[in-house]
Amino acid sequence: MSGEPITTDVLVVGSGAAGLTAALNLSTGCDVLVVCKGGITDTSTAWAQGGIAAVLDEGDTFEAHIEDTMIAGAGLNDRRTVEAVVERAPAAIERLAALGVPFTPGETVSERFHLTREGGHTARRIVHVDDATGWAVQKALTDAALANPRIRFLPGHVAVDLVTERHTVHHGFAERRCHGLYAYDRKAGRVRRILARATVLATGGASRVYRFTTNPDGATGDGIAMAWRAGCRVSNMEFNQFHPTCLYHTRVRNFLITEAMRGEGGVLRLPDGTAFMEGHDPRADLAPRDIVARAIDAEMKRAGLPHVFLDMTHKGAAFIEEHFPTIHRRLLELGIDATKEPIPVVPAAHYTCGGVLVDLHGRTDLAGLYAIGEVSQSGLHGANRMASNSLLECFVFGASAADDILARLGDMPPPPEARPWDESRVTDSDEEVVVAHNWEELRRFMWDYVGIVRTDRRLERAAHRVALLRQEIAEYYGNFRVTPDLLELRNLVEVADLIVRSARERKESRGLHYTTDYPELRDPPRDTIMYPSS
Ligand code: FAD
Ligand code: SIN
Repeated sequence: MSGEPITTDVLVVGSGAAGLTAALNLSTGCDVLVVCKGGITDTSTAWAQGGIAAVLDEGDTFEAHIEDTMIAGAGLNDRRTVEAVVERAPAAIERLAALGVPFTPGETVSERFHLTREGGHTARRIVHVDDATGWAVQKALTDAALANPRIRFLPGHVAVDLVTERHTVHHGFAERRCHGLYAYDRKAGRVRRILARATVLATGGASRVYRFTTNPDGATGDGIAMAWRAGCRVSNMEFNQFHPTCLYHTRVRNFLITEAMRGEGGVLRLPDGTAFMEGHDPRADLAPRDIVARAIDAEMKRAGLPHVFLDMTHKGAAFIEEHFPTIHRRLLELGIDATKEPIPVVPAAHYTCGGVLVDLHGRTDLAGLYAIGEVSQSGLHGANRMASNSLLECFVFGASAADDILARLGDMPPPPEARPWDESRVTDSDEEVVVAHNWEELRRFMWDYVGIVRTDRRLERAAHRVALLRQEIAEYYGNFRVTPDLLELRNLVEVADLIVRSARERKESRGLHYTTDYPELRDPPRDTIMYPSS
């Protein structure tokens, strides 16, 4: 039983920075329904630490922010996108401040906000709320959206697949279109139809495809997989970013140690105290993330280390307590006093640079479907995202997608009748353990074979395993009632397939994709674009 469909003007999938920015902007002209698979604040956005990049210092320029972004992106950024995002950044920060985000104030009268530094940035240009920027942003956006009468929330609904003309009862449309989606209602235990004139995917990234990650549980690439299945192109999936400094701890596996610590003078060291980054790059600890993560990986492999250290002790207790209060408190709870001892760190999967291919308004290949934020590939990040450019992308694209939708909404057809979810040929699973086991296996071999350093052999091994798992999961999906875990696993294996295939197509080392079989760059730089029929 699927019940009556829910209808709205615009459906936004995701309640992070991208989704809520879009919803707030859309609410000036239409009704919006925001669907999210857990609670409203269960997002990567809420976990962001370092901050948001924007040119706000008098000595800084748009040109410098653009160049830094392009250098980090290793030749694959779309300059038009980079310019558009960088130039709209100061206004995005103003809007957040107006919503009540309490950015850390500057230390002098002329400095309104304190600006920190992170890898790849040649200037201080990261606004932040101490070391818990994401939570402050998530809270301000959530409060504003909850108070807005034109925005409704539907938490606890896991989007399963997009509704296209394939699912409509009488489809008279010549154009292929997205009309909404099917979503699994956790509380009711059934799949519902949610229909809209326009649908915005703001479902975040896919870093849970790797065994070690800084991301929350929900980062399973659902939006990328759904758009792909509905016929959209997906691009640059080989560029998964590994953050250099995730806490190494036996109990706590995904606690990030912000790059802003290195921005404020933190030094990466070996167990004997040697600072090693200068031997890898002249920018040392503030080199772009791909370089720092690879350097740590190389040092760990060379000396057989389980982790390296990030040393802040020379900065003094007062500085650490003032600038990094959240991290310091959490580390103390875990028995690590960062004011007196270095912090054990390892790289971990952090950010999906690839995604659903979009234009400057977040439009995808499917009419009526938009993708914004980490789910998308807008051309901003190229082969390696520069730190603190991703929240910024969410704010800029959240606003530009909303503008585009509002301008076209009058011409968008109301959704036709869509067939209810059909469960007539499936039963309850008798072997839930298969899902857990396949999930574990997938994340393990993705880490081992498709990680920071790749080879043809490792990618081939991964491709074989992905093919086997895909087949097994497809059979399982065809025979049993859906559950949230099964839906996420089905999407993760889809995403893993896209990552491995993209990585195998790239016969060079560029940005985050490093392979010992092709260590050189090849000209001209090219995006890897996967076509749904390929
Ligand atoms: P998210 O914030 O991840 O939101 C995704 C939403 O989609 C959630 O509401 C989720 O429930 C929903 N969703 C997903 N799948 C489904 C489904 N199937 N059905 C229904 N709903 C679904 N970036 C910066 O710029 N600066 C930083 O300082 C920074 N620090 C970071 C620190 C950490 C620990 C992490 C993990 C990331 C950090 N990033 C940072 C990256 C940045 O936080 C993310 O790229 C950004 O928040 C993504 O926002 P989003 O709106 O695209 O997705
Ligand atoms: C961090 O604080 O190190 C994360 C910043 C980012 O991912 O942009």
